[in-house]
Amino acid sequence: MKDSYLNFTNVGIGARLTSILGLPRPEILERYETEKPTITGAVLLGGGGKSELLEVLATLFESMRTQTLFHSQIPEWLKIANDSGLITGRWEAEGTHVQKVKALVFDATGLKESSESEALHRFFHDSAKSILPCGRVIVFGRTPEHCNQPRKAAMQAGLEGLIRSLAKEYKRGVAAQLVYVAEGAENQMESTLRFLLSPRSAYVSGQVIRIAKPKKVSRAPRDWSAPLSGKKILVTGSARGIGTAIAEVMARDGAKVICLDIPQAQSELEKLAAKLDGSALAVDLTGDDAPETLVSEARASGGWDVIVHNAGITRDKKMANMRADLWNSVIDVNLSAQERINDALLGGGAINKSGRIICVSSISGIAGNVGQANYAFSKAGVIGMVKSLAPSLARQGITINAVAPGFIETQMTASMPLGVREAGRRLNSMQQGGQPEDVAEAVAWFASSGSGGVTGNIIRVCGQSLLGA
Ligand SMILES: NC(=O)c1ccc[n+]([C@@H]2O[C@H](COP(=O)([O-])OP(=O)(O)OC[C@H]3O[C@@H](n4cnc5c(N)ncnc54)[C@H](O)[C@@H]3O)[C@@H](O)[C@H]2O)c1
Repeated sequence: MKDSYLNFTNVGIGARLTSILGLPRPEILERYETEKPTITGAVLLGGGGKSELLEVLATLFESMRTQTLFHSQIPEWLKIANDSGLITGRWEAEGTHVQKVKALVFDATGLKESSESEALHRFFHDSAKSILPCGRVIVFGRTPEHCNQPRKAAMQAGLEGLIRSLAKEYKRGVAAQLVYVAEGAENQMESTLRFLLSPRSAYVSGQVIRIAKPKKVSRAPRDWSAPLSGKKILVTGSARGIGTAIAEVMARDGAKVICLDIPQAQSELEKLAAKLDGSALAVDLTGDDAPETLVSEARASGGWDVIVHNAGITRDKKMANMRADLWNSVIDVNLSAQERINDALLGGGAINKSGRIICVSSISGIAGNVGQANYAFSKAGVIGMVKSLAPSLARQGITINAVAPGFIETQMTASMPLGVREAGRRLNSMQQGGQPEDVAEAVAWFASSGSGGVTGNIIRVCGQSLLGA
């Protein structure tokens, strides 16, 4: 659905009026376009203490052909960048021509206690006015749960509060994230860095991502412009809405997509499958024979690489008015069916080596919502399932993660009452709803063979919604 306010405030008289009246002016977010570089503009680097990721970052920026600048707090960057064949320059905090940058990247891995946090203040204070619209802030840290020293754990945990505040302050489409990299997982950072720097992560902000050292080595894609090349990917609920966008983004990134939806949606499903050069599978996921059907379909095509559990329903009623059938149907589609299908596919050896399971949760599952006790239960259950399965699946080299969308412009949200719809759109740091493709891009990042260290993560695609924050 069209967001008329967003369009009005960004052209001619509308832009002038909103500025005179001091009304919020949501930024038109930059979205991914093939052929464009990962990031269009320079990255400014900072760090504190003995930063542990600078060498890796130099290699990654070199492979992305990114221009870097460095804050005077990390003079060592000059040599590290030169050794990696990277062009760099010192960034000047003072003067009439402070250079604008597209991203701020801070390596906080070397900060051992809160008394060293001054380095963060210096970097972000100096650069606060230099970030361009739709820019990115990425802070790298060490996973607090793995820090031996309580002071280091506290220092690293503090980064969460920092990035969530920056994400709220910067506005103008700027997104800020924290990435905890476990010791030994440094070679697993590339797919995450590419996703977070690029317009693919337009509607992801204020998130904390954990990269673990994978039990089994996973190889990065050969071609980052087609990172899912050769993958066979099942997308449930793909006849419309977010599922269609996921199928389209997967196909764009090189995958063969198996589009699944209920038999009543067969004609839309077949049209989509034909457009994407994929295949259609009309199956009701709650049917008794659904798990067995999926196992035999997967086996017949040599196993599937990625399973995206996107199908979902709402049957909203306040608890006092909610009939048992409304409760049960939502839990069955949104949670129990996923459990049965995961068990069958995993037990039947139908998920290939380095497989990926990606679930679609919701911020309702995190924040709760009036009239959605059934839906919120199911979506919180999905989060529990992901966290519980991640460690055992990691031993098989399979990752499991979830996206938790906020307000996304789909048929579902178009049917909301105007007041609720407008609140959903504006009560987030981006001051607008997300597009189905924003959820799809996050799913594609989880699906990448380069994301082997990313497991057990729940990433909100909600523009940093105030709900449940
Ligand atoms: N739209 C949003 O703002 C939003 C926000 C948070 C989470 N989500 C979640 O994202 C997912 C997609 O949402 P959407 O807005 O595109 O919804 P949608 O209603 O437009 O699409 C859901 C699809 O799932 C299919 N489906 C439902 N039950 C099925 C079953 N038993 N077997 C097979 N297919 C089935 C439907 O036929 C439909 O095509 C859902 O899991 C939803 O809960 C959406």
